[in-house]
Amino acid sequence: MTAQRVLVTAGTGTVGQHVVRELRDDDIEVRVGTRRPQSVREANDSDECVVEFDFVRPETWGAALDGVDAIFLVRPPGVEQGQVTAFVDAASRVGVEHVVYLSTLGADKNVLIPHHRIESHIQQSAVRPTFLRASFFSQNLHEVHGQDVVEHHEIFVPAGTGETSFVDARDVAAVAAVVLTDDRHDKQAYDLTGPEALRYDEVAAVFSDALNRRITYAEPSIPAFIRRMLSRDLPLSYVLLMVGIYSTARFGFAGRVTGDVGRLLGRPPRTVRDYVEDYRDRFEPANPPAATHSPER
Ligand SMILES: NC(=O)c1ccc[n+]([C@@H]2O[C@H](COP(=O)([O-])OP(=O)(O)OC[C@H]3O[C@@H](n4cnc5c(N)ncnc54)[C@H](OP(=O)(O)O)[C@@H]3O)[C@@H](O)[C@H]2O)c1
Repeated sequence: MTAQRVLVTAGTGTVGQHVVRELRDDDIEVRVGTRRPQSVREANDSDECVVEFDFVRPETWGAALDGVDAIFLVRPPGVEQGQVTAFVDAASRVGVEHVVYLSTLGADKNVLIPHHRIESHIQQSAVRPTFLRASFFSQNLHEVHGQDVVEHHEIFVPAGTGETSFVDARDVAAVAAVVLTDDRHDKQAYDLTGPEALRYDEVAAVFSDALNRRITYAEPSIPAFIRRMLSRDLPLSYVLLMVGIYSTARFGFAGRVTGDVGRLLGRPPRTVRDYVEDYRDRFEPANPPAATHSPER
C-alpha cells in the first residue's frame, strides 16, 4: 500500500525540509517532526501538521507516530544509534509499515559505522525498509564551509586530490518522495550520487565561474583544518568526524558515481554548478573584492 500519512523526522533539516515540500506537492499528509514545534509553526506561519518529536525523549514518540503508515527516518548528528533503533522498534509495534532511511554511500559494506548497524536493525524489524545511501551533500559546501568561501574566497577541506560524487540534498529529498509514494521501492536500496565526481580544485573552479570571482582550493593539511575548525568553537568530535569524511575522499573512496538518482527521478541529477547557482547568495561576501567581482552577476 502506498503511504497516506508520513512522519518526516528531522523535518527541518537539510534533506527533511525538502521531503516535506515534495510530499505536500504529492498531496500526501505530512507530519513534520521537530524538537521545537512552536517555533517551526510560527516561522512557517501555517497550519501544517508539525509535531514534537525527539529521539531522546520517547514520550514524544506516541503522538508523532499516531496513524502514520510510513516514516522518512534520519539519524541527526549526535543522536545515538540505540535511540534510533529503539524508535524503529516503537514504530514497528504501532503498525508503521514502511521506513525510508537516509543512510550513507557504502554503509552496506562498512560494518564500523552506525548507518550499517541501523540498516541491519531496520532489516530485521517488521517494517518494510528502503535505504537511501547518499553521497556527500553539495549543501555541506555552504552549511559547513560557506564561511571560508565568503571570508577567505577558498574551499578549505582536507580532501587532498580525491574526488567526491556530490549529490544535491534536494535530489535526495525528491527520491525520498518517490520511494515513499510507490511501494515498488519497498525492500530496495539506492546509491544516490550526483552526475559526476569532482576534485576540490574542480569544485573551486565551478565556484569561480558561477560566482564570477576567484575561489581557490586551499588543500589544507589535516592539522591546519582541525585548527581552523576548532577556532570556530566547533566540538572536537564533530571536527574529527569531518576529518574522517574528508579522509575517505582523500583516499579515493568518495568518487563512485551511480545512475540511481536519474533512474528514480526520470531526469538528470543536479550538478555542483546547479547547486552553486541556486545558492549563490550564501556565498556572496558583504564587501566583495572590487577587482574580481562583477555586481551584475
Ligand atoms: N551531510 C552529508 O553529506 C551526508 C551524506 C550522506 C548521509 N548523511 C546523513 O544524513 C543525516 C543527516 O541528514 P540532514 O543533513 O538532512 O540532517 P540535518 O540537517 O543535520 O538536520 C538534523 C535535524 O534533526 C533535528 N534533530 C536534532 N537532534 C534531534 C533529536 N534528538 N531528535 C529529533 N530530531 C533532532 C534538528 O531539527 P529540530 O531542531 O527542528 O528538531 C535538525 O534540523 C545523517 O545521518 C548523515 O549521516 C549526510
